[in-house]
Amino acid sequence: MSRFVKLMVAFVAIIVLLSGTFAVVAVFFIGERVVAEAQSRVSSDLNSAGEIYDTYLDDLYDLARFQADRFYLREAVLGGDASAAAEELTALMVAEQLDFLTVTDAAGAVLLRAANPGVVGDSQAGMSVVAAALREATPVAATAVFTADMLGQESPSLPEVAKLELVETQGARPRDDTVETDGLVLLAAAPVVDDAGDVIGALYCGQLATRRYGIVDGIKETVFGGAQYEGRDIGTSTIFLDDVRIATNVLNEDGTRAIGTRVSEEVYDRVVVGGERWVGRAYVVNDWYIAAYDPLRDRDGRVVGMLYVGTLEKPYVDLRLSTSLLFLAITLIAVVAAIAFSYVFSRRLSRPVRALVEASRKVAAGDLQAKVTVTSNDEIGELASSFNTMAASLQARDDQLKEFTRRKVMESERLAVVGQLAADVAHELNNPLQGIVTYSHLLLEKMTLDDTRRPPVEKIANQATRCVTIIRGLLDFSRPKTPHKQLTALPGAIDECLSLVEDRVLFHNIEVVRDYQEDLPPTVVDPAQMQQVFMNLIINAAEAMDGVGRLRVTTRLDAGRRVIQIIFWDTGHGISEENMGRIFDPFFTTKEVGHGTGLGLAISFGIVKEHGGTIVVESEDGAGTAFTIELPVLGIEGDVQ
Ligand SMILES: Nc1ncnc2c1ncn2[C@@H]1O[C@H](COP(=O)(O)OP(=O)(O)O)[C@@H](O)[C@H]1O
Ligand SMILES: [Mg+2]
Repeated sequence: MSRFVKLMVAFVAIIVLLSGTFAVVAVFFIGERVVAEAQSRVSSDLNSAGEIYDTYLDDLYDLARFQADRFYLREAVLGGDASAAAEELTALMVAEQLDFLTVTDAAGAVLLRAANPGVVGDSQAGMSVVAAALREATPVAATAVFTADMLGQESPSLPEVAKLELVETQGARPRDDTVETDGLVLLAAAPVVDDAGDVIGALYCGQLATRRYGIVDGIKETVFGGAQYEGRDIGTSTIFLDDVRIATNVLNEDGTRAIGTRVSEEVYDRVVVGGERWVGRAYVVNDWYIAAYDPLRDRDGRVVGMLYVGTLEKPYVDLRLSTSLLFLAITLIAVVAAIAFSYVFSRRLSRPVRALVEASRKVAAGDLQAKVTVTSNDEIGELASSFNTMAASLQARDDQLKEFTRRKVMESERLAVVGQLAADVAHELNNPLQGIVTYSHLLLEKMTLDDTRRPPVEKIANQATRCVTIIRGLLDFSRPKTPHKQLTALPGAIDECLSLVEDRVLFHNIEVVRDYQEDLPPTVVDPAQMQQVFMNLIINAAEAMDGVGRLRVTTRLDAGRRVIQIIFWDTGHGISEENMGRIFDPFFTTKEVGHGTGLGLAISFGIVKEHGGTIVVESEDGAGTAFTIELPVLGIEGDVQ
């Protein structure tokens, strides 16, 4: 994954996570707010509904009080014959849309019933509203429940109006009966008082709430103003008797008013049984409403029914939905904008990095001219400029190296030419020198021992012999002979070399220590060439010790690496730091002119290398030197030529 993609992924993840969380929380809160708002609206609507309901009671109250005070009524009651007022009261009942209007004496015995003139004489002192009016001499209005008998007594047509078939309603409390025969009545009573102020009777009147839609429609009109949503009324209002809808503008599927249906058990328990307000989401008849219910109490404080208002939930659901959608749309736009921004930002961030990657690829491929142009003055900018510096210094190093190798190549070419030249010269000189050696020896043979010319001729012979040695070394070096390899026991080969030199004067004061591993395996080498190497090292050691010291020769097997190590340790003057790197160079010597050729180690190095081995030196200036040769352990079938 490129840096750009990584950045983008990180940005998008952050954006989506943040906005997602934000959106969920916000949508949740919008929902909560809308619901809370709706519920508080409905709650206050229910307060208004209660007040409207109370105005109906107040109207009845005023009516009762006013009529009880009328002169004709007082006269009629005082006269003990209320029928005198019958005509007046009946007209009043009709005009005020009362369902019944009744007059009693001071004891509560009925004197006159406007709606049922035939039935008089019964006592209504037990009715708490009437009792209160008589006893306290003050008008009273309240909600009350009348049984069918009571209703029938007041007006023969009322029981039929009050009677409701109960409609099977899901979630309603279980009920055995299928018909509601009681009636919820808005009731008012007022005392009839004589001139002395004594109560001489009472007037009471009432309206049956069942099927009386004026109140609920009035509430709906006043509270909701007939507002509609998608062709349906938003607001509804209902009066319940116990848990039965007796007056409502909640409609059935077929458009009729849903009277006879019942409230859910949950609401019933809370409002009718518990006497408390209930506000919440309710499924009313066939739709969801945000609903509020208050208990309706009679004069004695008993809950006899409920007053309900509710608004369709749908407008709120839609509001919540549209608000949430609007919010989500805004969030989405913000997210897209943020992603677009981070895209641009990531590109800008990753562009210099890509440039760097590009440039370093070029450098890796050998194009040291590659440069990055990054202008940002942050870490990337720094990185780019140090990259450029690095590339530049690499370029400089590269140039230096090329120059160095060019010079080296030229130098070694020159050396090769010189070497070839030297070899040719050596070859040419070999024959004349042999002649000088031969003839000088012949001369010496012919001279007597005391011949005075003898010393110079001896010098000629010796010097010529030395020249031959040098020339031979030079020839050995310039054209190495093909080796004749055979299985050889190295300690034996070393011993042969030692025995050749041990008698020489140079070795008289040198202690030679043979430190050979016993079961050292033989290996395949050219014994003559190896002996040349050993001889060189032995002579060098002796010369370094100036004839006095100890030479230790160690042979051992490094079984793990399958090599034989031959080490020549001496206690000579050692090799200085500066000469260390040059002793294997041809013609390098520290010995006086005429003593060293500087070819010994160069030839030895060539031979060991040709055998697949190595030769290394360790030395402590002034203390001694150790040359270590390592040769591979080879069998006959190995590298034999
Ligand atoms: N054992 C040794 N101890 C100290 N110096 C050594 C030893 N062997 C070789 N050298 C140094 O390496 C030089 C090169 O040796 P070599 O190639 O054999 O040439 P030569 O012996 O003719 O000088 C010697 O001149 C000497 O300075
Ligand atoms: Mg030497």
